[in-house]
Amino acid sequence: MTKTDKPLDFLWFIPSSGDGSYLGSDALNRPADPGYFREIAQASDRLGYSGVLIPTGAACEEAFILAANLAASTERLKFLVAIRPGTASPAYYARLASTLDRVSNGRLLLNIVVGGSASELAGDGIFLPHDERYAHADEFFQVFNSLIETGHADFDGQYIKAHNATLTLPPVQEPRPPIYFGGSSDAAIDFSAGLVDKYLTWGETPEQVGEKISRVRAAAAAQGREVTFGIRLHFIVRETDDEAWEAADRLISRLSDDTIAAAQENFRTRSDSVGQARMVALHNGDRRKLEVSPNLWAGIGLVRSGAGTALVGSPQTVAARLREYQALGIDTVIASGYPHLEEAYRVAELLFPEIGITLPYKPLRSAFGEKHVFGGGGHLGNIKAKSAS
Ligand SMILES: Cc1cc2nc3c(=O)[nH]c(=O)nc-3n(C[C@H](O)[C@H](O)[C@H](O)COP(=O)(O)O)c2cc1C
Repeated sequence: MTKTDKPLDFLWFIPSSGDGSYLGSDALNRPADPGYFREIAQASDRLGYSGVLIPTGAACEEAFILAANLAASTERLKFLVAIRPGTASPAYYARLASTLDRVSNGRLLLNIVVGGSASELAGDGIFLPHDERYAHADEFFQVFNSLIETGHADFDGQYIKAHNATLTLPPVQEPRPPIYFGGSSDAAIDFSAGLVDKYLTWGETPEQVGEKISRVRAAAAAQGREVTFGIRLHFIVRETDDEAWEAADRLISRLSDDTIAAAQENFRTRSDSVGQARMVALHNGDRRKLEVSPNLWAGIGLVRSGAGTALVGSPQTVAARLREYQALGIDTVIASGYPHLEEAYRVAELLFPEIGITLPYKPLRSAFGEKHVFGGGGHLGNIKAKSAS
């Protein structure tokens, strides 16, 4: 069995700041709404996604509270929830994480988000320069991990102090929920090597992803550790390649050049994230050159910060591209698409059969011994399928 035979662990995304059908436009927008998030989570739970990423930031609903709410209305879905060191103490985050793992019966995954915008972080009371944020995060997780794994921590660091800290109620998962992390700077890669279970990258080209994986692997090996790898990508999957490219064009059809310029200016002036700079460098704000590698489309990054690329194509095409990433060592995909409810269905119905992901439950029988034909029955009874002439 080759390493690409094992199905990918496939997560979806909760758009906790709002959703829509056209990037950079107010047409067909869906505002942040807990009922809508529940629909996406329940669909993901039934369709075969193993979990959902809930982002964090000043524009998003608070991730732990949203995850607790969604855990109550789902059965098996896991929640990849961000910890941003410095927004609360390690002891408080340990209690949040442990309680969420307990109330969800072991469905918490942790995502370390150190933050890539000095101005946004300043709003949270965090004033550390880029590399020092990782030194701070390192101390933060020494305390957090000690608490969540042993129930106790005593620490006197440069940034963090915790005296006789205790956690009485442990998480369900032992020794603790898995830790995911994304960050592309040298400081981020050094930080990840000693701590994280799964390193995440935004959807760069296979060459760039391969190079990053080698660097992270080497840094972890130097500390006697192994890390696994995930990729964060949007998906535009349709029955044919042409239809998928039409859908990609439609997604940015109401996006003006002024809106692109304003977003790019925002990334330049408000972000010091190396990962964000690498996303921008794929297109440099130029909407004419968006297929940056076969079927890898950078159109979303014209206006959206963070994950800015999508795999575009038929199920067979996209599956082939995913196998290329798998061959590099990727075992996890965190996916999304606009709008997130409909696209959760599209990706599951079209792509999952191609990549070996099956429904997590046995569907009820639709008719005795016959194949179900949609639209071929009604109250007068089922009819048999005939091939279209
Ligand atoms: C998969 C993934 C998810 C991320 N989620 C968030 C998020 O929810 N909020 C946020 O502010 N940053 C998020 N980030 C950004 C990084 O956590 C990091 O703060 C930033 O890019 C700075 O990293 P760098 O300069 O080391 O690349 C995410 C990154 C990745 C790869």
